[in-house]
Amino acid sequence: MEKSNIGLIGLGVMGSNLSRNIASKKFHISVYNRTTEVTDEFIKEHGNEYIHPAKTLEEFVDQLEVPRKIIILVKAGKAVDAVIEKLMPLLEKGDVVIDCGNSNFNNTLRRFDALKEKGLQFIGCGVSGGEEGALHGPSLMPGGTLEAWNTIKNIFESIAARDFSGGPCVTYIGDNAAGHYVKMVHNGIEYGVMQIMAEGYDILKNVYKLDPPKLSEIFKKYNDGKLKSYLFEISIEVLARKDEFEDGYLIDYILDRAAQKGTGKWTAIDALKQGEAIPTITEAVFARFISSHKDLRTNLSKKYQKEKIKTDMDLDTFVSTLEDALYAAMLSSYAQGYHLIREAAKENKWDIDIAEVSRIWEGGCIIRADILNVLHKAFEKANKDTHLFEIPELAKDLQRTIPLLRKTVTLGVQNGIPVSGLSTALSYFDAITSKQVPANFIQGLRDYFGAHTYKRTDKEGAFHTDWNI
Ligand code: 6PG
Repeated sequence: MEKSNIGLIGLGVMGSNLSRNIASKKFHISVYNRTTEVTDEFIKEHGNEYIHPAKTLEEFVDQLEVPRKIIILVKAGKAVDAVIEKLMPLLEKGDVVIDCGNSNFNNTLRRFDALKEKGLQFIGCGVSGGEEGALHGPSLMPGGTLEAWNTIKNIFESIAARDFSGGPCVTYIGDNAAGHYVKMVHNGIEYGVMQIMAEGYDILKNVYKLDPPKLSEIFKKYNDGKLKSYLFEISIEVLARKDEFEDGYLIDYILDRAAQKGTGKWTAIDALKQGEAIPTITEAVFARFISSHKDLRTNLSKKYQKEKIKTDMDLDTFVSTLEDALYAAMLSSYAQGYHLIREAAKENKWDIDIAEVSRIWEGGCIIRADILNVLHKAFEKANKDTHLFEIPELAKDLQRTIPLLRKTVTLGVQNGIPVSGLSTALSYFDAITSKQVPANFIQGLRDYFGAHTYKRTDKEGAFHTDWNI
């Protein structure tokens, strides 16, 4: 048998779809799954001349051309370590192991070093786009050595989604865990954007008393404009879907408890570690936590009546106000995520090109949106340290849309609707664009109770005041 160009371990939905994608580009791929029946089933359904099943890991490794390139697509966490442990003794110097799961970047750092010690190459590759993306073209975010990347470049470029100019939605992100870090922040931004969208839906539904078909129509209108994106596109369907069991619409029967697998939380945790503010992303995680307390919320809702609905904006005015508000809040979420990537890159010595990151998010991934093309072009011209709010084209948009975000937040607050995503998107903007923030007051208090000292605006050095005099 001709040797396979690449191998894949783990034939869950993502693994089988990615294998089929690779085979469809005429690369020979060997596949292995711990449970052989799964492999048999996969071959029965999707087998073709490019897909080569293996019953044992030894057989699998033996089928691969050298240097071996092996994708692992098993549940993130212990399972990845278990596969690596079994694989290691079978591999040779220079072989490349590629973890395409949603692994925590700290684990990727550890695995990268462990494999390096054995002369093996490790790539932590973020994959976005869900099952459909894996099959038809995901956005891929590989991190590792450039040398390792070059061994898989042609395959990954062939299977990736396409950007706005037809280029592949994959680029070398940077050393060791840079790829998984960027994927983590992608998910953080995904959390932020979904939260602000949900809050817009909440206001439309509860202040303007709109039913799901009308809400779907509004989201369609948004998706036809500057908010055009995958998440808005799928909202149209999620809102319009009739329920299959009862009268009415499915959205009204879905329990309001948002689950999570952890990537949003990891983003928030790492931002705290880095000392960087990503309030909208963090609030999106908190909002999911609060949503999980359904019983407590239900009990408390009986004790505290919501205020009577008030608004002085007619529906048409609000629909257009919300469009601009969501646009500004979306930019703020991106700004927070981008800033975190930039700071983490400095800390970890990753040379991350944020224009390229924006480009590979143009297609395939969950946060793909027209705005990413704007960011891609803008960051190509900007210098590396540019904050998203410093970009002239966007600054012009923000000047116009921030007041509308302010109006939307006010409307939510006035009506007792939780708008933590929208309001943090706004307050992040307000704070980061303020020359003077009240941190002087905090410093004064710290010095008073703890002699922590403060710096002055007019003299060098650390000062302490004897507050008792
Ligand atoms: C993607 C998605 C994918 C997954 C999320 C969902 O980019 O394809 O982000 O990674 O759907 O992990 O995350 P939660 O379950 O935490 O919402």
